Amino acid sequence: MSNRGFLHFSALPMSTRMVYTMTLLVLGTGYLFAMLQVFFSHAGLDGNPKNISAEDIRIAYHGSETDTKLVSALKGPMAGMLPESERATIFKWVDTGATEEGFAQVKPIIEERCIACHDGSNPHIPLLTSQEEVKKLVTKDTGATIPTLVRVSHIHLFGITFIFFIVSSIFTHAYMRPLWMKCVIIITPFLTILTDIFSWYLTKWIPGFAWFIIGSGALMGISFAVQWIVSMWQMWFYTLPAEIEECGGTLPILGGNKASTPDN
Ligand code: HEC
Repeated sequence: MSNRGFLHFSALPMSTRMVYTMTLLVLGTGYLFAMLQVFFSHAGLDGNPKNISAEDIRIAYHGSETDTKLVSALKGPMAGMLPESERATIFKWVDTGATEEGFAQVKPIIEERCIACHDGSNPHIPLLTSQEEVKKLVTKDTGATIPTLVRVSHIHLFGITFIFFIVSSIFTHAYMRPLWMKCVIIITPFLTILTDIFSWYLTKWIPGFAWFIIGSGALMGISFAVQWIVSMWQMWFYTLPAEIEECGGTLPILGGNKASTPDN
């Protein structure tokens, strides 16, 4: 049946296992940094920078009921760009009506902390070179814009598919019963990257879909962790069940072997 061609990790050459191990180590580290990136760019949006909540996700995609674009950015992805005291000065300026007179205090902060990037050299991020430009951001925060979502979507769809193609191709060499469970673990990240990204657009429209983003991310993370751990463990520490070991780590193809032929 579908077991033909299955090769367990233990039947692979040492050098191939080295390639797999190092690839998993670097991708695992990359995954940790990706989670840190999600944390740093979202955790403070609801006013509490210590953890990431459903409210953080809602604000990131749907926008905030209470904060302006400028304040949301400074609580979220731009929070690390300036010291707390200067951030408070900008918040105060916004709270007191973002007046022309008050801008005198804000201007030097923006010139020192923000202009380096927000000077028009990157067309995807707002200009902060004049008071008029800054004031354009003191409007209701409506969450990520569609062009931003489109840009991030295509990067994620291509990038994450590559990562999971590699991880699940390695994981195919693991021995796991029942077989359907192995298949579910393999298809989960590919399905959840789609549900994750479609949920961004749905959340922009209906904030309750933030839970779909969280659920997709959680399932993707679980699948990654299981594939990573099982692959590493079976590559170096695991002893195959005897009837498969007898065939050198491949599954029996021809009849005559006393072992039943499990699918793979
Ligand atoms: C190191 C470069 C850099 C610096 C310095 C920087 N930003 Fe940004 N900023 C970015 C990038 C990149 C984005 C786009 C982020 C994204 O789309 O996820 C951005 C986005 C923003 C946004 C838009 C968020 C939105 O809703 O589209 C605002 C507002 C903003 N920054 C304000 C500031 C302020 C205020 C400062 C200074 C305190 C600052 N930034 C400093 C790089 C920078």
